Amino acid sequence: MKNSYSNIFTFSKKILYKTIKVLNKKSIVSLPTETVYGLAGNAYSKKAISKIFKLKKRPKKNPLIIHYYDIHQIHADVKLNNNFMKLYKKFCPGPITFILKKNKRSKISNLACGNLKTLAVRFPKHKIIRSVLKNINYPLAMPSANISSNVSPVSAQDVYEEFKKKIKLIINGGQSKVGIESTVIDLTNKPKILRPGIITLFDIEKILNLKIKSNTNNSKIKSPGMLKKHYSPGIPVLLNQKKPDNKSAFIYLGVKFKNNKKFFSLSKNSNLKEAASNLYKTFRLIKKKGFKKIQIAKIPFIGSGIAINDRIKRAANNK
Ligand code: TXA
Ligand code: MG
Repeated sequence: MKNSYSNIFTFSKKILYKTIKVLNKKSIVSLPTETVYGLAGNAYSKKAISKIFKLKKRPKKNPLIIHYYDIHQIHADVKLNNNFMKLYKKFCPGPITFILKKNKRSKISNLACGNLKTLAVRFPKHKIIRSVLKNINYPLAMPSANISSNVSPVSAQDVYEEFKKKIKLIINGGQSKVGIESTVIDLTNKPKILRPGIITLFDIEKILNLKIKSNTNNSKIKSPGMLKKHYSPGIPVLLNQKKPDNKSAFIYLGVKFKNNKKFFSLSKNSNLKEAASNLYKTFRLIKKKGFKKIQIAKIPFIGSGIAINDRIKRAANNK
């Protein structure tokens, strides 16, 4: 069934077949995941991958995450290790991406992995992407479905806003539950968090039973998604704000402000996971309402608050 937008489709068996047909032809579709919506293409196909880079206007050096149904599909592509096995068992399928050493015999397009000797692998949880992955015999390269450096999309309409009719097939899987991108952890050496997410450093330390590093404040760019300016709503963003000004939209936690025309609470009971899930949605809403600036109150640096702070810091960076 078609939605009101002619390229947004409700998922059904028929649409599953259509999706697979488009992917087999090395074309691109937009699929929902539990984190954010993605732009999916056959990871073995240079043709499909170059379409993704072109659509996103993404620098070629910034490698893509390769998405799999489960562990059985990854043996040809990467070298597994104990830390990976422990985290896979605990969190997958789910919102976490692992950087592993790539196998020489891997068929993943070099363009997808920026010619690196490592590969980012993820096992998404959303049932639509899982049913697609289950019914194809190649993995999917899938970056977030936004123009490079914009805010990631968390609904089919958001994807439409980014690409309009340039994508033939956008599958509507509802609002993405997690609402921010997966945690990225480098497991090629001593485990290191490259991008924080709702699976936190603390959650991972507990499973691995060791202290791990977070690379996210490091100036050296290890993961190109860590480019300082990223996740930008396209208007100035000010952090750690105490006093709402007259004109700006004001983002905060809790219920302190009654006038909700310019006040946007990310979570009424200050739940940081809920706040993360509302962040990008709120950025887009504020932009649509025509505000010219966003003030954000202090967000605690604990749990999912670490990922929120990472994203808003980049959103605030105009360099
Ligand atoms: O939640 C997600 O991970 C979403 C959904 C669609 O699955 N995808 C996503 O992809 O956020 P993307 O392309 O927007 O972000 C991928 C991040 C980038 O920061 C990229 O630099 C990093 O993963 N990355 C990919 N391969 C890497 C590698 N071999 N080494 C280090 N970082 C890598
Ligand atoms: Mg992205």
